[in-house]
Amino acid sequence: MSTMTAPLVDPMVMRQTMGRFATGVAVITTEDASGPHGMTVNSLTSVSLDPPLLLVCFNHGARTAEAAVSSGRFVVNILSKRQQAIALRFAARGEDHFAGLDLEYAGHRVPVVPQALAHLECDVDRVVEAGDHTIVFGAVLSASMRDGEPLGFFGGKFSDIQQHGHEPEHWFF
Ligand SMILES: Cc1cc2nc3c(=O)[nH]c(=O)nc-3n(C[C@H](O)[C@H](O)[C@H](O)COP(=O)(O)O)c2cc1C
Repeated sequence: MSTMTAPLVDPMVMRQTMGRFATGVAVITTEDASGPHGMTVNSLTSVSLDPPLLLVCFNHGARTAEAAVSSGRFVVNILSKRQQAIALRFAARGEDHFAGLDLEYAGHRVPVVPQALAHLECDVDRVVEAGDHTIVFGAVLSASMRDGEPLGFFGGKFSDIQQHGHEPEHWFF
């Protein structure tokens, strides 16, 4: 629900506070009539298992979001800890993020980031405007993954994510 009143929490405070919620890092790739597009995100969330749905929150005006919505298709590339340079490349504002990169499709209909920890190819399921972001829901068409360690993001910085050596005993969801 939107409101016309002034925000109770300053946007920078919101960003810094939510920065305490550690996440992985992904690159969203897509391709429309104007060519390939991609951008770094950490707003990726798993929404539903059956049917398989995920969402990504895009800043208004993000070129990759516009291309994903117009083409109806995108890939989530979950980055490994060796791919910080890729995360920075795809976060540079206004740049051609694919400049100098060979396009690799790996059987997908849009270009993907090679050596990513996981690839999830999605159809755009629905688009919801929320505040200063556009939420794009993806219906997952295919999912593949490889072993490796993830790139993390915490407190506005890239970080390592360490696994504990044991499985959780109970799953509550
Ligand atoms: C770790 C990290 C996470 C980010 N997460 C998001 C995100 O979830 N949504 C978003 O809109 N921008 C996010 N950004 C910023 C975009 O990557 C950046 O604004 C974008 O690549 C600029 O591309 P453009 O010029 O094509 O809009 C993130 C940046 C970094 C470094």
